[in-house]
Amino acid sequence: MEFQKMHENPDVLHVGTCQNRSYFLPKAPEDGEESTRVCLLNGTWSFRYFDSFLDVFPEGSEGEICFDEEDMDEIEVPSCWQNAGYDRHQYTNVRYPFPYDPPYVPDENPCGLYLRRFYMNAEDLTQKIYLNFEGVDSCFYLWINEQFAGYSQVSHSTSEFDITDLLNEGENSVAVLVVKWCDGSYLEDQDKLRMSGIFRDVYLIRRPLAHIRDYFVKTTVSDDLSHADIRVEMDFIGLPDVTAELYDAEGALLESTAGAEPNFALENPHLWNAEDPYQYTIVFRTADEVIEQKVGISKIEIRDSVLYFNNVKIKLRGVNRHDSDPVTGYTISREQAKRDLFLMKQHNINAVRTSHYPNAPWFLQLCSEYGFYVIAEADIEGHGAAVQTGGYGMDEYADNALNPIFDKAIMDRIQRSVIRDKNNACVLMWSYGNETGWGPSFEKAGAWVREYDPSRLTHYENTYYDARGHKNDLSSLTTESRMYSAPEWIDEYMVDPKYTKPLVLCEYIHAMGNGPGDAEQYQQLIMKYDRFMGGFVWEWCDHAVYGGTTPDNRDIFRYGGDFGEYPHDGNFCMDGLVYPDRTPHTGLLEYKNVIRPVRAALVNRETGEIQLTNYRDFTNTEEFLTLSWEIQQDGDTVACGVMDDIKIAPHESGVITLPDAIPTEGDVAVLLQYSAKKNDSVFFEKGHPLGFDQLIVSREARKEEALRKGVVVAEEDSRAVTVTGDSFRYVFSKTEGVFTSMVKNNMNIMTRPMTWNVWRAPTDNDQFVRKEWEQAGYNEPAIKVYACNAKEEDGVVVIDCKLSLAAVYRRPFLHLDCRFTVDAEGKVRAEINGKRDMERPFLPRFGLRMFLPKSFDTAEYYGYGPYESYCDKHHASSLGHFAQTADDLFEDYVKPQENGSHFGCARVTITDGAGAVTVTSPEDFSFNLSHYTQEEMTEKMHNYELTESPDNVFCFDCKMSGVGSNSCGPRLAKAMQFDDETFTFKFDLTVE
Ligand code: GAL
Ligand code: MG
Repeated sequence: MEFQKMHENPDVLHVGTCQNRSYFLPKAPEDGEESTRVCLLNGTWSFRYFDSFLDVFPEGSEGEICFDEEDMDEIEVPSCWQNAGYDRHQYTNVRYPFPYDPPYVPDENPCGLYLRRFYMNAEDLTQKIYLNFEGVDSCFYLWINEQFAGYSQVSHSTSEFDITDLLNEGENSVAVLVVKWCDGSYLEDQDKLRMSGIFRDVYLIRRPLAHIRDYFVKTTVSDDLSHADIRVEMDFIGLPDVTAELYDAEGALLESTAGAEPNFALENPHLWNAEDPYQYTIVFRTADEVIEQKVGISKIEIRDSVLYFNNVKIKLRGVNRHDSDPVTGYTISREQAKRDLFLMKQHNINAVRTSHYPNAPWFLQLCSEYGFYVIAEADIEGHGAAVQTGGYGMDEYADNALNPIFDKAIMDRIQRSVIRDKNNACVLMWSYGNETGWGPSFEKAGAWVREYDPSRLTHYENTYYDARGHKNDLSSLTTESRMYSAPEWIDEYMVDPKYTKPLVLCEYIHAMGNGPGDAEQYQQLIMKYDRFMGGFVWEWCDHAVYGGTTPDNRDIFRYGGDFGEYPHDGNFCMDGLVYPDRTPHTGLLEYKNVIRPVRAALVNRETGEIQLTNYRDFTNTEEFLTLSWEIQQDGDTVACGVMDDIKIAPHESGVITLPDAIPTEGDVAVLLQYSAKKNDSVFFEKGHPLGFDQLIVSREARKEEALRKGVVVAEEDSRAVTVTGDSFRYVFSKTEGVFTSMVKNNMNIMTRPMTWNVWRAPTDNDQFVRKEWEQAGYNEPAIKVYACNAKEEDGVVVIDCKLSLAAVYRRPFLHLDCRFTVDAEGKVRAEINGKRDMERPFLPRFGLRMFLPKSFDTAEYYGYGPYESYCDKHHASSLGHFAQTADDLFEDYVKPQENGSHFGCARVTITDGAGAVTVTSPEDFSFNLSHYTQEEMTEKMHNYELTESPDNVFCFDCKMSGVGSNSCGPRLAKAMQFDDETFTFKFDLTVE
């Protein structure tokens, strides 16, 4: 048969496929855990890669596919062919990797022909044989024994074929031609590395001639939750006799019924929720087949614009998750998926959005089993339409949604996700897709969803614009979903009568690089408003391709632009809470503590009463909480203890009383650490940290130490002031306004002159403000000293200096008026008064930078640690004494950037054990110590390219701006910007 091209025909989506059904794997009656009716075809297949679809039909082929296995390569199924060395990777976010000309795709369209053999015996052939593909990107043509058997697209959905009539006894062949792009690719413009191939399981299912085709387990729960009905709607091929048995989670048979419409009634049902994911099991039996289906029962409702789950106003503490791995690409095993889910549980996350496509069908079974609320999203993402003219157009945005050629595909994609996953307890919302605008196609598909499954909420982001005059009908959506909305907008939403639905942020706090810095700010709003259901961090993991190691054994992770591709979006895919290898970012630790299950507030300092609030939705603290408390004075523990009999109902507060008195002097804090009371069966052990509160009771005004007076001499020439005492000799530059050498006890502590410091290696979240910073010249300031006078005065030397910072061709952005006092023992006391040009953007930071000998590698500090901490990102850290090396302090972002700063410090000493440099200040300051300069980190695109500085770089800052989440979210909050017009930085610098 001559080849019929279907992949540029939006009317032809599937040929030869079976009707959609829910996911289940039937078993033989005698089977144990594993089904003998399912035969995985995973493994090594023969493979031929074609650079172009045109090469599939060379001269003389007459439109026939060549199934000759000779000279074929081999490939593992499932996998992505880019990871097996074919084609190349490409990372693009919004822009399509081909011209926008739907439904057409380039003729030079890469393809892969897959082929393998399998065996059937005579008995197999008396039954029905189905062939299933759980994921093929982007579409495929199928042949069984060289006879055309069908076609299918929708990369992340299952395609099932009844191939019974095409099979022979003995050896059979299956051949699959996978095409990289098809008309469906216009609806699969997900922000990810673009890969191709058979990337999920392929298997045969053997079934009796008469069998259950599909079923939908529907549950209803009475208002008072005391009663539940389970009703199963079934559909059959032939007329099998069915019995259905209901078991509880312990395996006890509760009820058994016969007939085509099984029904069960339960008194006092054990309901499912993410904290207690209790599942019943229904076993369906026909003459020769058994199907086991887990059933979780819940009641999902919206009342007065508020979400109620089992009558409780739950909150979603969610993440967006892609199937992504630096080695296996889109091919994710159960072990990999479990690793993600377990890490999420360990970090207090209770919800997942499967952005922006259905995950493997068993993924939702894991979510139901482990307890996650899921936004189950259809395989639709079309934002590339918005940039078809080059700019960003709101009307263009909706062009796919409004284009009738995609009506059928949009319905198909949404139906496929709902029908496949409908029996999963974890599904809280059906999502119609992402960022494709809105149009009649979505209105029709949405109406279908509401009709088919009214028990779930519905979700879609991208509805707020009426494109090309179409008046959006949003009646099928039960929720209002937004992304990256500013906190101020959320406040408005809550009072604006035009909004009547509960709000969810399907994406917020963009976790790219050093960030997010605004998690706590949003969490305050989530806790404040009942109508705010919560949010989903963008996103769970950094996407990268593993490239082996450098000769000095550093891991190479590649991202956009590293494959020579066009277009690409650089490191915009490196925006997860975990590194590609799943090492948590500090952002995950921050998020974990922001969404901790318990929060504390000091009620009464005298009586030691503390209020605890339980933020779990269903679990009493009695069941999960061990509380360790510690009273800290000046960073030292003065009393501590453990309580694990605290009873606070979910969403309630209770008061505990510390048995020891809270001191009244010094820096006083109460540290409350929450940990798991019991071994959790799967995710963590007893004692696993769940989060903490540190209640700062008081911070004492820091007293200045008296200066030592004695013999100190100042000598001046035109360029420098040299200050000499008994044990030291410092040189102060009259052109730079800083010390250029500091010799103490015959050792120069500075390997290079000190510098004024306003720049930081831009974080990913600085990428927009960076352009303003560079324009202002913050990255290349020159110093102009206007006046510098030194005098010996009363046993000390006083240097007064006025200077400014300005870059070439630009006027000064900062004027400084400084006084440095050097005492007889060499202590330097500085007072710096700054005045900024307010027409310039806020400063990244302001402080001084010292270059110390490499041996000065340990920082001992009193401030926020042990994790990197910023004014808006310090909830994973607490105030205390820490000692860490430069390596410990370094956060190794794949794209190097500002990292490892410590906020809220009163004191830091950098030491090599013998010598030491100490900075103290009456006001809190930030510091960091690094092997790398900010210039090096600004310049290098990958961490493995970084070259260490010959010195250790020590920066101490009067202030460091926050990190925010502006790579996608709103501009850094005003309060977190270093935007003061005038400021004073006072510090003492001591060299020993
Ligand atoms: C959103 C989009 C996500 C991702 C994110 C940026 O607009 O929905 O898929 O691209 O931006 O990382
Ligand atoms: Mg087609």
